[in-house]
Amino acid sequence: MLVEKNVPLQSCNSFHIVAKAHSLVRIASEADVQTVVTQPEWQEFPKFVLGGGSNIVLTGDVRPVVLKVEILGKRLVQETAKAYVVEAGAGENWHDFVTWTLQQGYPGLENMALIPGTVGAAPVQNVGAYGVELQDRFESLDAVDLQTGKVFSLNAAQCAFGYRDSVFKHSSQPLGLAGRAVITRVRFHLPKPWKAVLGYADIEKKMAEAKVTQPTAQQIYQWVCDIRRAKLPDPAVIGNAGSFFKNPTVTTEQCADIIARDPKIVHYHLADGSVKLAAGWLIDACGWKGKSVGNAGVYEKQALVLVNRGGATGGEVMTLARAIQTSVYERFGIMLEPEPVVV
Ligand code: EPU
Repeated sequence: MLVEKNVPLQSCNSFHIVAKAHSLVRIASEADVQTVVTQPEWQEFPKFVLGGGSNIVLTGDVRPVVLKVEILGKRLVQETAKAYVVEAGAGENWHDFVTWTLQQGYPGLENMALIPGTVGAAPVQNVGAYGVELQDRFESLDAVDLQTGKVFSLNAAQCAFGYRDSVFKHSSQPLGLAGRAVITRVRFHLPKPWKAVLGYADIEKKMAEAKVTQPTAQQIYQWVCDIRRAKLPDPAVIGNAGSFFKNPTVTTEQCADIIARDPKIVHYHLADGSVKLAAGWLIDACGWKGKSVGNAGVYEKQALVLVNRGGATGGEVMTLARAIQTSVYERFGIMLEPEPVVV
């Protein structure tokens, strides 16, 4: 197995932050993970699993052995009267996989088109967009235990999905799997008959413009791509990690208090009685849109996205993030929680 030394990671993280991996191993199969796990010289080393690098902030060189997941393959596992079950290798690009499923005639992932990153990283933070989250289309996944080398599978309940959260983001024993497993394959359950998920303001606007009341999956896919391209910076052009903070949830009382002070606050009532606030709006209201700290900045068209204006360090990104947290806290009494993993 080839172990690369001092590997530049700038092109392996969507923020394009300059950092190096002291050692990097490319993982093309389950067997490659097992080799790393069972070889005595690697056993003791801490390991860091890298997917598409679209949800991380690198604050320095990475000392743990980087396992760069490059497992490929896409296939229909099963078709029943009720669903298509499709599987992809963890190293497949997420958007290319979504595009492929639609081309093959397996709709259901269209609302999540153009989310950056890999298939294997998608369950880690339970990616979601325009009313659909990964957990809504999830069947199961395969992973390899980094201590024992054993292959295991998890269903949705075992992944403990939450809003931009899963068992893979938590390190607490015995349940947390952060740093303890490599996801190798993910299977999706795409229900039949297909039903459009509409209702998001941006999508409704596209429907009205096109004078369409019953859109096809392909139309939704195209609209989602158009909306994202208009609002979110393309990581290939401007380094970023998508939304930098989660949308916070507050109680009805807290929300009433905030509305009394800021009647225009964008908020959504959830089924459990709590209220979700638009973090982008809160940051925007504090005047951060377009501002910078060093080479890290707040995107001009969407305040929830922090960008690398060229040569930003992870430290600059985190300094900006903390300054935003402080000003939102001082004005609204809400502590925003970052979405990416800080390494
Ligand atoms: N808003 C502002 N100013 C801003 C940004 C947003 O006023 O600078 C307002 C918007 O006008 C809108 C509201 O905030 O009324 C919400 O904005 P938007 O519809 O763009 O969605 P979001 O809450 O900012 C979330 C996800 C995105 C996902 C979109 C669409 C999170 C943290 N982000 O963004 O996910 O694409 O909804 O479903 O939940 C990601 O996680 O990386 C991501 C891009």
